[in-house]
Amino acid sequence: MNSRVLVLYWSKGGNTRKVAETIYATIQSHGLSSELVEMQADLGIDVFSYELVFIGAPVYDNLGPQPVMKFLRRNIVQQTCLLHRKNQVILR
Ligand SMILES: Cc1cc2nc3c(=O)[nH]c(=O)nc-3n(C[C@H](O)[C@H](O)[C@H](O)COP(=O)(O)O)c2cc1C
Repeated sequence: MNSRVLVLYWSKGGNTRKVAETIYATIQSHGLSSELVEMQADLGIDVFSYELVFIGAPVYDNLGPQPVMKFLRRNIVQQTCLLHRKNQVILR
């Protein structure tokens, strides 16, 4: 089986990085093709080209880190939603 798995993470203090590395090592140990990538707001990556995507980020003061929120908005929300408001989501 040649699944493409993406493990995408953002970490300030290293906790999320350790979790992401553990997930990545586990996937690798099962012989699956995977990539471990550190997230940045302007990271050019097509998450929809993977069969399985893990996304990990910490919460600081009840919010996701700004680069993570930007990445998710640009690469997932804008790709999948016609409309996205606080209590309303319309998918394409
Ligand atoms: C200043 C500060 C604010 C935090 N705010 C929250 C929070 O609002 N909610 C929460 O669940 N955890 C909060 N945490 C805990 C972090 O999300 C947690 O330590 C996380 O594992 C850090 O991940 P990282 O080491 O990958 O950056 C906070 C930690 C710090 C230092």
